[in-house]
Amino acid sequence: MKYSKVMNFLIVVIVVVLGIVGDCYGQLQDGYYKDSCPQAEDIARSVTWQYVGANPAMAAKLLRLHFHDCFVRGCEASVLLNSTANNTAEKDAFPNLSLGGFYIIDAIKAALEKACPGIVSCADIVALAARDAVAHQLGYSLWEVQTGRRDGTVSLESEALADLPSPASNFATLKQSFASKNLGVKDLVVLSGGHGIGVAQCIIFGNRVYNFTGKGDSDPTLNATYVAYLKTKCKGEFDSATTVPMVPGSGLTFNNTYYTILKENEGIFTSDVALTTDIYANYVVDVMRANMGTFFNEFGNSMRKMGAVGVLTGNQGVIRKKCAVNNS
Ligand code: HEM
Ligand SMILES: *[C@@H]1O[C@H](CO)[C@@H](O)[C@H](O)[C@H]1NC(C)=O
Ligand SMILES: *[C@@H]1O[C@H](CO)[C@@H](O)[C@H](O)[C@H]1NC(C)=O
Ligand SMILES: *[C@@H]1O[C@H](CO)[C@@H](O)[C@H](O)[C@H]1NC(C)=O
Ligand SMILES: *[C@@H]1O[C@H](CO)[C@@H](O)[C@H](O)[C@H]1NC(C)=O
Ligand SMILES: *[C@@H]1O[C@H](CO)[C@@H](O)[C@H](O)[C@H]1NC(C)=O
Ligand SMILES: *[C@@H]1O[C@H](CO)[C@@H](O)[C@H](O)[C@H]1NC(C)=O
Repeated sequence: MKYSKVMNFLIVVIVVVLGIVGDCYGQLQDGYYKDSCPQAEDIARSVTWQYVGANPAMAAKLLRLHFHDCFVRGCEASVLLNSTANNTAEKDAFPNLSLGGFYIIDAIKAALEKACPGIVSCADIVALAARDAVAHQLGYSLWEVQTGRRDGTVSLESEALADLPSPASNFATLKQSFASKNLGVKDLVVLSGGHGIGVAQCIIFGNRVYNFTGKGDSDPTLNATYVAYLKTKCKGEFDSATTVPMVPGSGLTFNNTYYTILKENEGIFTSDVALTTDIYANYVVDVMRANMGTFFNEFGNSMRKMGAVGVLTGNQGVIRKKCAVNNS
């Protein structure tokens, strides 16, 4: 008798604890829309592929958008909100330079509102678009996107400035920035592989090429052959009109060559170079460089983890009608 009371009590405790732990993980799920909007993921993919097919440079923009969304207030689409008369939003903060792809998100949202009004969140659309953008050139998805995110209503320039790591960051700063989002060093190295596609403006790294210590010198950790090449592209330290591919000669192909160029001292930002300055991080660089399959697999795992940062689920947040503005 006494025994079974104790057992009952324990079972209740276990159920309550499991419930709390479950809530902590935000309750994203694979195929959240399978009943409420079964065609949601197909529609999102076909719109993304249509636009990325028309302009392959957009794949990098969509991938970066998800990162910028998740690192500021969690993956809740705050990065999409426009500034208003009395608020400067994240997208108008300095680190927004060259952020793009908003018109594609709006096109996906419009298609989904037509098919299933008020069901699919902008935050899920950003997560799906990042996955589908990377998948376009490969022809297959590298990860399942968990869905069920809801949208926030607040977007602040100040938080983008505080929460997005600077490209001038050293390893300790990057590690701390990712740790504050519950992402480890392995995630940091693997997700930085996102720089395997896309471009950077000369002004972001121009000091490394033209005037590193104020003596008209270049960063000694930057490959001299690469410096000479970059000088043929960038018209000076503060050239904001020119972009270069972050992986020399590529920029459109998502693969693990990013890790090879890191080892050749061709990482474009100080934050890329930083990954080889820590023993464990450098080990992860070597592992990612050695095998494309391992990189693809780990990239998917870390993207799912990043995609769960600070999400709003259940009855938190809202479903925006238009991604760039709050519902009136
Ligand atoms: C580790 C910290 C990171 C830093 C400091 C950083 C910084 C930057 C900077 C400064 C740019 C160029 C912006 C410009 O030229 O205006 C850039 C571009 C980009 N970043 Fe990152 N980033 C980081 C992590 C990530 C992650 C985790 C992803 C995605 C998984 C990502 C994806 C991209 C992509 C795809 C581009 C190219 C965008 C384009 O072509 O327009 N970055 N990043
Ligand atoms: C922002 O300004 C509008 C009028 O332009 C006003 O109605 C609104 O209450 C203001 N919001 C905040 C948060 O101050
Ligand atoms: C970035 O912010 C500036 C203002 O700081 C704004 O003029 C520009 O349109 C923003 N860019 C994007 C892509 O939102
Ligand atoms: C490099 O920077 C220093 C100090 O900021 C400046 O005085 C100098 O003119 C710059 N040199 C070049 C070549 O831009
Ligand atoms: C990655 O893509 C680039 C650009 O298309 C290509 O030059 C390189 O060989 C590819 N790397 C691997 C390992 O497939
Ligand atoms: C510089 O880059 C070239 C390829 O562009 C590579 O062959 C060489 O090994 C690199 N040098 C150093 C010191 O990393
Ligand atoms: C958001 O801002 C962009 C750029 O200023 C503008 O083109 C777009 O129409 C705005 N979206 C909405 C829904 O107001």
